[in-house]
Amino acid sequence: MSLFCKSLTTLSRGVDVVKACVRRHSSSLTSELMENMDKKATWDRFYTENSSCTHTFKNFEWFFGFESVRDFIMPLLQTRSHPDALLQVLDVGCGTSALGPCVYQHSPLPVLVSCVDISPVAVRLMQEHVQAQAIQPHNTSSQLEFLELDCTHLLKRYALSTVDLIIDKGTIDALLRSKEGKGKANLMLKQCLKVLRSSGSLLQFSDEDPDARLLWLETEAQEAGLMAADVGVQEVGELRGVNYFCYQVTPRCVV
Ligand SMILES: C[S@@+](CC[C@H](N)C(=O)[O-])C[C@H]1O[C@@H](n2cnc3c(N)ncnc32)[C@H](O)[C@@H]1O
Repeated sequence: MSLFCKSLTTLSRGVDVVKACVRRHSSSLTSELMENMDKKATWDRFYTENSSCTHTFKNFEWFFGFESVRDFIMPLLQTRSHPDALLQVLDVGCGTSALGPCVYQHSPLPVLVSCVDISPVAVRLMQEHVQAQAIQPHNTSSQLEFLELDCTHLLKRYALSTVDLIIDKGTIDALLRSKEGKGKANLMLKQCLKVLRSSGSLLQFSDEDPDARLLWLETEAQEAGLMAADVGVQEVGELRGVNYFCYQVTPRCVV
């Protein structure tokens, strides 16, 4: 298949994935999401509509939940970077997913899980939810927080080389599929690599084909003379006829 045909297939599959993820929502919101998933206002509307559908809070999961990906995540949380420090984990574009809280709950080593999102609505819903739930962590020193943050500016909050693991479930996908989001996706990837420790990893869960995503990651993760990265891919599995992948990006210093 030519690269052009491949991008068309990827694009139309992307539309199907968005439709499948938001199938309970109004058609005007679905069309807004198709083009504007890089916009804070779109997501504020999405999480507001989502929470008004039910009386009790329910986590919303893009693609799938923690159980489908725990075997990719938990093995990366088995060694401490410093004897006394918490392992710093970021869930970028966390939405109202239970992924971050599940990592906090299940990690045997002490972790600080920071779930960050551009939408203050999603962040407030999660803060209220965990306060009401009082989830108990496996390790009593672990911590969990929810922060409103634009992940294209991670360096405003996190210092260089301080984060052990970054998890991205559908967020860079959302930016890449938006009319004006590609520049933001490039920026977010670069910021992730800058805040990661040299021993750290970025895990991306995505439905994008390895042919396209590996090329994008390898190209964008480079900054002439400053930064490079090793990139790998594993299959997560199939859901509703779509194949999902886990991309692992590890920063490599260029001297
Ligand atoms: C496709 S949803 C995925 C949500 C969640 N990770 C999940 O698995 O359900 C994309 C999320 O990214 C957030 N987002 C979009 N642009 C962002 C940005 N620049 N910084 C932080 N979060 C962003 C949106 O608010 C939304 O919650």
